[in-house]
Amino acid sequence: MQICKTPVDLQALKAQNIGFVPTMGALHAGHLSLIERARAENDFVIVSIFVNPTQFGANEDFSTYPHPLEKDLELCAKAGVGAVFTPQADSLYPFKEAISLNPPKDLLGFEADLRPGHFNGVLQVVLKLFNLVRPTKAYFGQKDAQQLLIIQRMVQDLFLPVEIVPCPILRDFDGLALSSRNVYLSPEQRQLALKIPKALNTIHEAYKAGITQGTNLLALGQEILSPLEVQYLSLVNRQLIPLEHIEPNNSLILVAVRVGTTRLLDNLWL
Ligand code: PAJ
Repeated sequence: MQICKTPVDLQALKAQNIGFVPTMGALHAGHLSLIERARAENDFVIVSIFVNPTQFGANEDFSTYPHPLEKDLELCAKAGVGAVFTPQADSLYPFKEAISLNPPKDLLGFEADLRPGHFNGVLQVVLKLFNLVRPTKAYFGQKDAQQLLIIQRMVQDLFLPVEIVPCPILRDFDGLALSSRNVYLSPEQRQLALKIPKALNTIHEAYKAGITQGTNLLALGQEILSPLEVQYLSLVNRQLIPLEHIEPNNSLILVAVRVGTTRLLDNLWL
């Protein structure tokens, strides 16, 4: 497995049919499921590990975000990754005033309201990474639903020559969606956090039993999540427009909850 530390190292790589998995490291089985899929569908897999400063707000966890680089590299090697890109911030952002991109207004709200500037940073870094890696396909988790939709829009809008492959949410043994931020939770907080998958499961079961009205489904979820601090629990379509009723294969239940100081995101694609 090659380790590319600079854009120049990466540009020197010669490979065809590249599957690309962008990450911020602290890899878990969710990331590995994206890598596995990329391996199955491409000749060569590149993983980037970069905690992108421009997508973090001033009061967020940029400085405490976990960095287990050696362990991450081992996991990548074991997973059959061809090359890992681990740049330093100054090599990805050589200019003090970098060019930035705005997410489209119709895909704002939710994370964009709670993390102003977050998606500008995500688009900026993902476009740079796509231009350096030049992947045939790039793999993104449905876990970050809004991020996925905004990146799909960027690819369409800028005619980027890459296929975005959405990948399902991987969950831990207890149902909690895997996230690099789960390590911030104390055992008690983790127990509380299990209300999130429980709420989504209950909504899913109710939907399967024939309830399709948003207010009824969301009320069931809200009851389970109480007394947690719910930042949003919403039913939208896959263009992020609020829905009154579930539209089969075009609906999303989005949830963000704060447990202590940790924000946890989860969702259900219906
Ligand atoms: P990060 O949070 O490390 O996530 C990298 C990728 O893994 C994202 O596409 C995310 O949706 C996916 N992922 C995370 N948890 C998952 C889970 N439980 N199941 C399936 N996929 C999961 O998202 C980012 O990094 C950054 O914003 C990035 C796109 C790398 C830009 O900096």
